[in-house]
Amino acid sequence: MRSALTWKVIANCSTTKAKVGILTLPHGPVNTPVFMPVGTQGTLKGLTTKQLEELGCQIMLNNTYHLGLKPGQELIENFGGSHKFQNWNRNLLTDSGGFQMVSLLKLARITEEGVEFQSPHDGSTMLLTPEHSMSLQNSIGADIIMQLDDVVSSLTTGPRVEEAMYRSIRWLDRCINAHKKPESQNLFAIIQGGLNMDLRRKCIEEMVKRDTPGYAIGGLSGGEEKDIFWRIVTFCTDQLPKNKPIYCMGVGYAEDLVVCSALGVDMYDCVFPTRTARFGNALTPKGSLNLKSTKFAQDFEPIEKGCSCLTCKTYTRAYIHMHATRETVGCHLITIHNVSYQLRLMDNIRKAIINDEFPPFVQNFFKELFGGKN
Ligand code: GUN
Ligand code: ZN
Repeated sequence: MRSALTWKVIANCSTTKAKVGILTLPHGPVNTPVFMPVGTQGTLKGLTTKQLEELGCQIMLNNTYHLGLKPGQELIENFGGSHKFQNWNRNLLTDSGGFQMVSLLKLARITEEGVEFQSPHDGSTMLLTPEHSMSLQNSIGADIIMQLDDVVSSLTTGPRVEEAMYRSIRWLDRCINAHKKPESQNLFAIIQGGLNMDLRRKCIEEMVKRDTPGYAIGGLSGGEEKDIFWRIVTFCTDQLPKNKPIYCMGVGYAEDLVVCSALGVDMYDCVFPTRTARFGNALTPKGSLNLKSTKFAQDFEPIEKGCSCLTCKTYTRAYIHMHATRETVGCHLITIHNVSYQLRLMDNIRKAIINDEFPPFVQNFFKELFGGKN
């Protein structure tokens, strides 16, 4: 199908499947492997789009489900899309909405038509179909849009996993037919099939025939063992075409970003770094710090020595501790640091691959994470 991107691999690791690429989208280039921070309600909680740009972020995620409810399709369409609405001139990706409804609203019910759910505003029944998701995503105008998929928990077993996989293929066809802007928005397919290699193989076989501009691996990071998570990722990156970017959805722990990059993944997103910041947790190469803990009350070091983010250049752990227990300011400062940490990690992964030093980089990364003292 038509695409609005170019994808070029510029360096390959000589011992793993890790690679560095340049993904060029309508709002500029994206260096991969890339972590995409999630701005659920438009902007990221605690960060302005200006700050995000200053941190070097080239692509951010928005949620169709949230924007569709507030400010709503008509307003965003009249405004000229989410880039303008948020004053964000770089790339955007929207998830299709179904996953958010199933994970946020326990009341969601899935039928062949779509995902049925109760409006959190007035309790009325609403139906998100593949066609409606495409229409919303066309109005929002993100550079990458995702198909509506039937997602089951990675811990689900039995016929429901197979049903969801085949339904996701049918919904992909409906999304392709409903997509009105293939010349400016790239529709990505989402591979489902749970933890079953045969179902994953079948799903990849069918979806690759649809020739979408990129492919996502869905249905993971839902509490399954790391061993099987890695096996599924490996299987998918082996089977998927080499000339398209691969996006592993909902993955954002530092160790997963390092390992999955070695397994050939190019893109990631996760609410983890921003959500955990709101609980007072700061991410560092030696693990996370809970700044609400009284042990930081008299700690006059920055969150992370050597970090060049605004928070670390300006404030001490003690200062943030004082605010972390009383909301907003502390949370904003930790959010800035955590996003900066994630982006720097990806920068370091890319540099290591380019210099063909990725294996020693991985070794050092794990040594510091599990052997270092904060
Ligand atoms: N976010 C994390 N996992 C998934 C998934 O499987 N599908 C969608 N649409 N979004 C996700
Ligand atoms: Zn910092």
